[in-house]
Amino acid sequence: MKRKEALKVAEEKLPKKRFKHCERVAETALKMAEIFKADPDKCYLAGILHDYSKYDELGKMYQTVTNEQLDPELLEYKTEVLHGPIAAVKIKNKFNYTDSEVLKAIAHHTSGAKEMGIIEKIIFTADYIEPKRTQPGVDEIRDIVFTEKKLDLAVYTITKANVRHLLNKDQTIYHKTIECLNYYNMAKG
Ligand SMILES: [Fe+2]
Ligand SMILES: [Fe+2]
Repeated sequence: MKRKEALKVAEEKLPKKRFKHCERVAETALKMAEIFKADPDKCYLAGILHDYSKYDELGKMYQTVTNEQLDPELLEYKTEVLHGPIAAVKIKNKFNYTDSEVLKAIAHHTSGAKEMGIIEKIIFTADYIEPKRTQPGVDEIRDIVFTEKKLDLAVYTITKANVRHLLNKDQTIYHKTIECLNYYNMAKG
């Protein structure tokens, strides 16, 4: 898939505000691709498409989990976790798109995972730090990325903040997020 087609696909599927967020994630991912020596086209595509299923109906998402034999544990979670893995299978099936680096980056942007590839780590991080994000601690992560240039530390710091947030709300935590936390705690150095 080319950049132009991905833009069209996302623009037609998503509300304007969400589409704009996807553009900012793609632009941020492009900047990061230069720093961390990743394929810019893959970063851009994954950025534009990562939230493709953000507003899909929950019941349909659960059907897709079952039909596509995704991790059955996903049935215990809601859109916040599901829209990543669902978007990846939908884009694969609907557009016959098979690049596994891009699809994994889309799938894991909601949870993180252990042993992520470069595109996965870039999208996971770009989604958190795109220019309009204002959550507490976001500037610290921008520094880790653009000044210190430590991508594994960025992934760890984001995951730690996400897990803290979920614990504060007494929510259960998807196993891939816990694996991400533990893995990048070691990998960050
Ligand atoms: Fe998302
Ligand atoms: Fe997003």
